[in-house]
Amino acid sequence: MNRNDIIISAENIAEQREYSLKCRELFACRLGRQPRACVVTFGCQQNEADSEMIRSMLHDMGFGFVSKAEEADLVLFNTCAIREHAEMRALGNVGQSSHVKNANGAIICVCGCMAQQTHVEEKVKKSFPYVDILFGTHALWRFPSLVYKKLFYGKRVFDTQGEGVIIEGIEPLRKEPPNAWLSIMYGCNNFCSYCIVPYVRGRERSRDPEVIISEFTKLVEAGYKDITLLGQNVNSYGNDLDCGIDFSGLLRRINDIPGEFRVRFMTSHPKDATKKLFDTMAECDKVCKAIHLPVQCGSNRILGLMNRRYTAEHYLELIEYARSKMPDITITSDIIVGFPGENEEDFKQTIDLVEKVRYDSLFTFIYSRRKGTKAADMEDLETAEDKQRRFDRLLCVQNRISREKNELYLGRVCKVLIDGLSDDESYTYKGRTEGFKLVHINGPKGLEGTWQNVKINRASTWALFGEIVD
Ligand code: SAH
Ligand code: SF4
Ligand code: F3S
Repeated sequence: MNRNDIIISAENIAEQREYSLKCRELFACRLGRQPRACVVTFGCQQNEADSEMIRSMLHDMGFGFVSKAEEADLVLFNTCAIREHAEMRALGNVGQSSHVKNANGAIICVCGCMAQQTHVEEKVKKSFPYVDILFGTHALWRFPSLVYKKLFYGKRVFDTQGEGVIIEGIEPLRKEPPNAWLSIMYGCNNFCSYCIVPYVRGRERSRDPEVIISEFTKLVEAGYKDITLLGQNVNSYGNDLDCGIDFSGLLRRINDIPGEFRVRFMTSHPKDATKKLFDTMAECDKVCKAIHLPVQCGSNRILGLMNRRYTAEHYLELIEYARSKMPDITITSDIIVGFPGENEEDFKQTIDLVEKVRYDSLFTFIYSRRKGTKAADMEDLETAEDKQRRFDRLLCVQNRISREKNELYLGRVCKVLIDGLSDDESYTYKGRTEGFKLVHINGPKGLEGTWQNVKINRASTWALFGEIVD
């Protein structure tokens, strides 16, 4: 596909803005007050970033925002399809919104990865009559025209057409500083055999580096201090561009932007994470010494069936190299338990790898069959109980390691960016270290968004606790 066909044209974006203004008038006319929207987001940071775009479009339509669906004139569910549980949760929430619909005639919208699937579109058409607008990930930029259609014609609107695009010119409505997400690329080409993402997010496409640098610079100027570059596989950034830049090159350019900030990124794929990347991380002072490097499994046989295209040995080599360059680097990962055909021996190899790597923390999932993926057709003989038992064993091993790794911080002074109030009642604030460790701290008013030196005096499996020192 030609790059000009991928990037939504400025004219198209301007036309959508016109629709937003028309919607603004129609809502003002109908309600006689400012309309209120409730945006509910499921899934990963990619969806969070999309919701920031959606909020921006809703803002153009004149909306203010509320957190309770009952108070809203428009409720939007941005859904995730990664596992069955995610879909059930989203559908459960959509189901409950029928009450809101009955009570105050709210417009109900469903979008995101789950909505991009044909079978979900059909299901919503048939079984969720109160959903007014459903649109897929590729139609995101057309949201204002979809709302307008609903308002003007009164009929239900469905739009899951198109392929992966790049949207420029809609400024995301972000949360307050200090943390921000910045998408550097969209989609995925990897087709891991269990994963639905390539089917619902389209092929890999990188944003122009100049646009990224300019947006990043503006974020720093606006006071954002901890900025995460987003993409399903950031290590292949630039492969589809012909300007000679790769992900390491992008990191170096970002590192040169003036200002006091940190940059981190996710997600990295072990088949594309290179020594060059780790060298770059080590040499760039503003790049956090932290990496999320999903391994998925420790058995080469299962990694092959998963189509991951690396071996456990290669993965361990990468970790060893990263630690040789950055001894303090925090390393986290994702693991899937119970992939079709995984036996006790395969699982033991996963445990073995986890013991060797000693991750700071781990996101663990039980395999969930996704319609349309390669693995969906693979024979799966293990029972749900067996998978759950393995999952619990893995969690037990990792919890011990997480606690031991956190205990290494006792007595150390860490630079912490305070990003909000603590949910632990004994502490005032929460913040993050460079390695993204959660730290609970006490302190006087007005410290949100500031850097503090914190001496760690307590460590648990999930968090560090400390006091501010000079
Ligand atoms: N692009 C990223 C993350 C994608 S989804 C990557 O490649 O690492 C986040 C995690 O969800 C994956 O790393 C994987 O561990 C998990 N996941 C994806 N599909 C799954 C499935 N069908 N069942 C269970 N877990 C899954
Ligand atoms: Fe899914 Fe694999 Fe792509 Fe990650 S790299 S989004 S797991 S297909
Ligand atoms: Fe879910 Fe889509 Fe992210 S499937 S994990 S929201 S890319």
